[in-house]
Amino acid sequence: MDNVTSISRALPDHLAPVFAQFPLEVTDASGVYLHTPGGRKVLDLYGGHAVAALGYNHPRWVEALTSQARSLCFQSNAVPLDVRRRAATKLANFCGLGLDTVFFVNSGAEANENALKLACKATGGTKVVAVEGGFHGRTAAAGAVTWGAEKKWYSFPQKPFDVAFIKPGDVGDLATLIDDRTAAVIVEPVQGVAGAVDLPQAFLEALRCRCSENGSSLSFDEVQCGVGRTGYPFAANMYGVAPDIITTAKALGAGFPVSAMLVADHVAAYLKTDTLGTTFGGGPMACAIVETVIDVIQSEKLLDNVRERSQEIRDTCIVGPVRGAQGAGLLLGLRTSRPAKEVQAELLGLDILTGTSADPNVLRILAPFVLESQHVTELRAALSRLAK
Ligand SMILES: Cc1ncc(COP(=O)(O)O)c(C=O)c1O
Repeated sequence: MDNVTSISRALPDHLAPVFAQFPLEVTDASGVYLHTPGGRKVLDLYGGHAVAALGYNHPRWVEALTSQARSLCFQSNAVPLDVRRRAATKLANFCGLGLDTVFFVNSGAEANENALKLACKATGGTKVVAVEGGFHGRTAAAGAVTWGAEKKWYSFPQKPFDVAFIKPGDVGDLATLIDDRTAAVIVEPVQGVAGAVDLPQAFLEALRCRCSENGSSLSFDEVQCGVGRTGYPFAANMYGVAPDIITTAKALGAGFPVSAMLVADHVAAYLKTDTLGTTFGGGPMACAIVETVIDVIQSEKLLDNVRERSQEIRDTCIVGPVRGAQGAGLLLGLRTSRPAKEVQAELLGLDILTGTSADPNVLRILAPFVLESQHVTELRAALSRLAK
């Protein structure tokens, strides 16, 4: 404890010293480029942990936020708002899988916390099954189902339910693991932090099948892979597997903090006054942004663009230290021959920002959906200059 105190007290900026930080200061940004105080222009293929889906300074995003701020900056869920109804309808229709009840909250972890709480209520179960490698957030329930959290940072004295982990792709033991105590199975269909791991179709189908058979709720965590990131509205659409609950965030606000839980009717039937709650969730600014982000994705045909740019990266960027690609859409993992952190640092030296992952040999690309061919060419040229 004493050591911890002395380290944190030494920092001059008053910020909790809990983040490893890029050696990069940013003043402003436009399109897919970040600008530094020294005049560098850095191609952003990381998008602030997959958030900046429309890039920076998108005119429609800026206009939605400013005009909503002028007309009504906030009212809580106690006051019915047309913009909230429009955002929920837009999101449910965009998904189109019959998950027609929407609850807006503020972060990925909060959406997952609510999804797990609702599943426990709906089923009476006391156990949750999660997938090895999955990341679901830092709060009590979301952290409890996050792979590796217990060893690294989960510091609550106990978990809110029993947890069992299953290996990604392993369909052998589902009937034993997903038993009559199981309230929910939570899974990222394309795992983000793990390194852009697209789970096998047959695995997700088997989870769907076993959850239906057993009466457990299947919850897709699409906080990172949802809202167009895979080139489909949700990864659930890409796989053709409809879960009972989807949680989503990041691209949903494209820079404004907002998350949502989409719920199928048979689970939504358990929602009554006071079952869930939030102060900020569903505020008019967030809702105006949700409506606009989905509208821009549709009107600018960004799902097509995500799929095309993804294919272009797969076709042209397996050069230099890159040996292969995995993932879906613009949630791509580039498998590197050398430590990904080394390649990431070298790319940043060439003015390209990328991410790493839990896999030491996977470089993560979470580019804005407005990425163009010329940016892929820039990435290819930079990778070609690096040692194999
Ligand atoms: C798949 C997934 N779920 C949940 C979260 C947690 O989201 P937040 O940091 O907004 O709480 C993340 C964050 O990276 C994520 O990638």
